Amino acid sequence: MNTTRRFPSGFLWGAATAAYQIEGAWAEDGKGDSIWDRFVRKPGVIVDGTTGDVACDHYHRYAEDVELMAQMGLGAYRFSISWPRLFPQGSGRMNSKGLDFYKRLVEALHKRGIKPVATLYHWDLPQVLEDHGGWVNRDTALRFAEYAYALFQELGDQIPIWSTLNEPFIQAFYGYGNGENAPGRRNPWAILPVAHHLLLGHGLAVEAFRAVRPANAQIGIVMLIWPSHPATSLPPDVAAARRVDGAMHRIFLDPLFRGRYPKDMLFRMGMRFMRPPVRPGDMAIISRPLDYVGVNTYTRLLHRADWRDPLLAVRKVVPQAPTTAMGWEIYPDCIIEALQKVREYTDLPLYITENGAAFEDTLDAAGQINDTERIAYLRSHIEAAHRAIELGIDLRGYFAWTLLDNFEWAKGKSKRFGLIYTDYATQRRIPKQSAAFFREVIANNGL
Ligand code: NOJ
Repeated sequence: MNTTRRFPSGFLWGAATAAYQIEGAWAEDGKGDSIWDRFVRKPGVIVDGTTGDVACDHYHRYAEDVELMAQMGLGAYRFSISWPRLFPQGSGRMNSKGLDFYKRLVEALHKRGIKPVATLYHWDLPQVLEDHGGWVNRDTALRFAEYAYALFQELGDQIPIWSTLNEPFIQAFYGYGNGENAPGRRNPWAILPVAHHLLLGHGLAVEAFRAVRPANAQIGIVMLIWPSHPATSLPPDVAAARRVDGAMHRIFLDPLFRGRYPKDMLFRMGMRFMRPPVRPGDMAIISRPLDYVGVNTYTRLLHRADWRDPLLAVRKVVPQAPTTAMGWEIYPDCIIEALQKVREYTDLPLYITENGAAFEDTLDAAGQINDTERIAYLRSHIEAAHRAIELGIDLRGYFAWTLLDNFEWAKGKSKRFGLIYTDYATQRRIPKQSAAFFREVIANNGL
């Protein structure tokens, strides 16, 4: 293969997962319930009626999965830690059996020369904390910081890259605003308090990290950035796209990097819904310096103004373009635009912490998955990542979502994003053609 687009040396190639989506073992070794364990049991909330009780059974099969990562040549593996596995009661005494699992995983990764990249919160709040108000309650931020502190002490210098939160936008808007995700609350008034407490928990966790000072480790946050475009050039539609950008990105990026909430969004959302419950000192905590920013991006969004929508007065427009099985437009420049968005705020090193696609994968006669669409998706988005670097963006790594087909939240097991196929009946893993493609990219450090 003729490498024409080589990445800088040391560029980190990885794959990403999240605890609830892959681990299973939902009630083993002293683990407490998370809001997802509770949520999936409500009738009708998961499209195919499945749960993450077993998921990919990674809790028991992590060694095999690390082997598969090594075969792909991954330089890094991004996973998340289940808070209720470590603190079944949300706080208090740590469950050492839960910790042992992550110790074994991290050790297996090191043995294979794969850098562990750990997320502290990928949406699986301990249910007991939800029973006390969840992220609407300021105390949850304090409990999160305690959990983070304990982990930094235990595993701080074993894990070179840490992130506090994964996509706080989804937790606030989908978990508490429209109820599509756990905990399934439909309270638009809760969105800003939840966002504020997530950000506060993030800032307190960063302070805990600096206090513990793990050797050779970095801390950052992982943001969902989906470029928001107006569907037409009409001024009301341009304003509508800007409101979506405000809700998805600026409500979080402004506090993190400028220490304040964006006025236009406070005006818009605060007038109808509750304002963020900011106490003196909060904004300084939230804007503590970070070491890097992670960007999850998959597509762009098109919007028009629509005054019938009570929250943001917008309506999504379906693009006239090829989409993935999620219905998401295939738009490789999302990579560049998302990175540029974060660059408006900071020159910190950036990582693409998630990018990938769901397609209808089928086994061929030989039992293989020839996922040419996913390969084309990955190729075009990795090309865009390379262009971003040529444009001067300090991009340090790219993580494919996801290592193996897993529990895609409210879509259950119906959407497959993996480089590796999961046969849920047998838990057999079958690397797809895209895994071979990604292995080549890694081996060549480019395309
Ligand atoms: C972002 C989330 O972090 C991840 O959990 C999810 O599976 C992917 N997007 C795909 O929807």
